[in-house]
Amino acid sequence: MVVVIGGPYSEKLGSDIAIRLNLPYINLESKVFPDDESYLRFPEKFSEDNIIVIQSCFPKQDKRLMELLFMLDTAKEFGVKNLNVVIPYLPYARQDKRFREGEVISNKTIGNLLHTIGADLLLTIDAHQEESLKTFKMRSVSISAIPLLAEHLKDMMLSDPCIIAPDKGAINHAETISSILKTNCTFFEKHRDRITGKVETRKKELSFHGKDVVIIDDMISTGGTIANVSKIAKDCGAEKIVAACTHALLVGNAEEKMRDAGITDIVTTDTIPNQFCKVSVGPIIADALRKFIEF
Ligand code: R5P
Repeated sequence: MVVVIGGPYSEKLGSDIAIRLNLPYINLESKVFPDDESYLRFPEKFSEDNIIVIQSCFPKQDKRLMELLFMLDTAKEFGVKNLNVVIPYLPYARQDKRFREGEVISNKTIGNLLHTIGADLLLTIDAHQEESLKTFKMRSVSISAIPLLAEHLKDMMLSDPCIIAPDKGAINHAETISSILKTNCTFFEKHRDRITGKVETRKKELSFHGKDVVIIDDMISTGGTIANVSKIAKDCGAEKIVAACTHALLVGNAEEKMRDAGITDIVTTDTIPNQFCKVSVGPIIADALRKFIEF
C-alpha cells in the first residue's frame, strides 16, 4: 500500500497528486510555535511499505527542509520501507559547485541529508542543473515543466514570438518552447558578480518590431535577470514581453522591477504557489511517480 503526504505549503499539490494516483492522502497537522519552530503531527501511525511525501521548499527554504526531514525521519521510525520524496522546488540548487575557494556546496549537502535520513527516490521539477543530481546517492530525477508552459504560451496567441533564454543555462528551455511553438529563439549572455550578486546582460543587435517575445528561465528570484533582458527587448521594438518560468520565487519587488522593465505578462507553474501560476505540475509529477513506484 502507498500513501501520499503533503507537507505544509504543499497540501493542495499533495492532495491533487493523491487523487490522480487514486491513493489515500494523509492530512498532516502542523503549526508554528511562537519562536518559529515547526510542530508536525501525523493523525495516526501508519506503516505502509511506501510513502510519497510532497514538500516544496520555498518560502523559508530552511524551515521547509527541516519539516521535510521531520516527516521522513518519523515515517522511517513508523516502519515505512520506501521513502519517495517530491520536492517540486529544490532549494540551494544554484550553489552546486565551488565558484570561489572555500565555498560550501549547499546542493550536495541537501542531497547528503536526504540520503542519510533514508530517502529512496527524489523527484524534482526543472532542477537548476540536472547534472548536479548525479552527486546525490539516492535515485534522483528532474522532470521538466517547460512543455506545459509552452502549451500555455501557445494558447496566448502571441504574435510571431521570439523565445529568449536570458543566459546560456536557459537555452535548452528556450529551444524546447520554440520547437513546440514552431518559432525562433535566441539567447543572451549574462554575467553575475559572485560577490555583489549584480547581474549584467550583454546587449545584442536584434529587431523585434511587430513581434512579441517570451523570456524563459528556470526561476525568477529578484527579477533582475528578466528585467535586464526585457529592457533590451523593448529597445529592440518588442510588443508584448512575457516572462515565463517554472519556479516563481518573486522576492521583494521582483514584479514591480519586471513591469517597470516592460514585462506585460508573467506565466509560471505552481511548484511555488503564486498569483501568476497558469499551469500545475500535478499531472507530470503523478505520471513520473507511476513510472518509478510499484503500486
Ligand atoms: C540562474 O542562473 C537562474 O537560472 C536564474 O536566471 C536566476 O536565479 C534568476 O535570478 P534573479 O531573478 O534574481 O535575476
